[in-house]
Amino acid sequence: MTTGKGRPIAPAQGKLGILLPGMGAVATTFVAGVEAIRTGYSKPIGSLTQMGTIRLGKRTENRSPLIKDFVPLADLKDVVFGGWDIYTDSAYEAARKAGVLDDKDLAALKPFLETVKPWPAVFDSQYVKKLHGENVKKGKNKRDLADQVTADIEKFKKDNNLSRLVMVWCGSTEVYREAGDVHSSVAKFEKGLEESHPDILPSMIYAYCAIKAGIPYCNGAPNLSCDFPAMIELAKKTGTPIMGKDFKTGQTFMKTLLAPGFKARLLGMNGWYSTNILGNRDGEVLDDPESFKTKEVSKLGVLEHILQPQLYPDLYGKIHHVVRINYYPPRGDNKEGWDNIDIFGWMGYPMQIKVDFLCRDSILAAPLVLDLALFSDLASRAGMSGIQEWLSFYFKSPQTAPGLYPEHDLFIQLMKLKNTLRHLKGEDLITHLGLEYYD
Ligand SMILES: NC(=O)c1ccc[n+]([C@@H]2O[C@H](COP(=O)([O-])OP(=O)(O)OC[C@H]3O[C@@H](n4cnc5c(N)ncnc54)[C@H](O)[C@@H]3O)[C@@H](O)[C@H]2O)c1
Repeated sequence: MTTGKGRPIAPAQGKLGILLPGMGAVATTFVAGVEAIRTGYSKPIGSLTQMGTIRLGKRTENRSPLIKDFVPLADLKDVVFGGWDIYTDSAYEAARKAGVLDDKDLAALKPFLETVKPWPAVFDSQYVKKLHGENVKKGKNKRDLADQVTADIEKFKKDNNLSRLVMVWCGSTEVYREAGDVHSSVAKFEKGLEESHPDILPSMIYAYCAIKAGIPYCNGAPNLSCDFPAMIELAKKTGTPIMGKDFKTGQTFMKTLLAPGFKARLLGMNGWYSTNILGNRDGEVLDDPESFKTKEVSKLGVLEHILQPQLYPDLYGKIHHVVRINYYPPRGDNKEGWDNIDIFGWMGYPMQIKVDFLCRDSILAAPLVLDLALFSDLASRAGMSGIQEWLSFYFKSPQTAPGLYPEHDLFIQLMKLKNTLRHLKGEDLITHLGLEYYD
């Protein structure tokens, strides 16, 4: 244990299993990247846990260790991967089909990627209409399916001699659902499992199994998954960290960079039109209006919360915010996100900004999966449970305590994250006041 002024944190001893429900483009790019990093084939670009530093004390002290040297994180060589998918493809086959990594990189990583094979999934195409796979569990009710997932986890833990586990949902975006009565308490949810309640979606079954077993759960998609009272209650009961929703990559990442800047300078806004062309399987799934609705809700909330129209009605009271995703196969995973932003300045004069981001979705998402896995494991060892708002940095639609609006500004999120690490280790929080330098 590390003690002192900070919080006791159990050491990262032994192996960490990272469970991935959904082994498509993001998950396989993540697994391939971790193997590439630990064999010295590439660098962990985009990962705060691996490349980020943290300033400690005053600016004059020159103390800025790497985050991974400051807090006890699992070492990448101790990480083992397991997961589920509705297709039987190994991580190599799935990565090849996803088309994110080129043939040269895939060939170098093939022997390892072929060893990562998905277990049969909990899946029902009524919740992801565009997909149909054969690697799917059968059971007499949803409780039975949950028991099978738990058995997979226990076997994986035993076979690999793991000391700890985390789960990161990298599965497809499910159809839109709001939390209802069955989601209102653990007792009702468990009864719903017995009765195979239609509003219990597959992602919730994985989340339930993880949280029940005290395994931190991170939700990379906009599905409800662990964002409802029953899961929050269960997480508190089992002392488990939970977090979501929806990895903050591409266009929303850009939005949370730009919008706080306009607001800081009190520039007004009439509209923000965002459109994407995307040709991967995620794009195909999001071509279904019901899955898109889930994504749209996650993407639309951002501007409202950053710009706070209720506080600045003259600047942001009448914004037209539109988000579109168009499935366009030739682009594969190399998404193009266009933004047209209509702003206005002094005396109301209008201006326009155009952003054309030719990004690679899974290349942006993979380091977030790594950081979430390592930080959620740290949170667990530090005895933190329930919603981990300090990790909102990674999410488009951060899960917060009921009644609390989410913080979307990327730089406030980063400050919150780093201050949480300082707090854990008993270091002074950094307020950026800085008057002492001039006293
Ligand atoms: N790539 C990004 O930048 C990004 C950003 C934010 C969110 N996301 C979300 O991350 C998720 C993964 O994205 P992706 O590009 O890898 O998509 P993908 O379609 O390549 O992979 C998703 C995989 O999940 C599998 N799957 C679906 N339902 C499942 C279930 N119930 N159990 C097990 N497996 C299941 C699918 O068969 C597929 O292989 C999506 O929900 C996406 O919306 C991605």
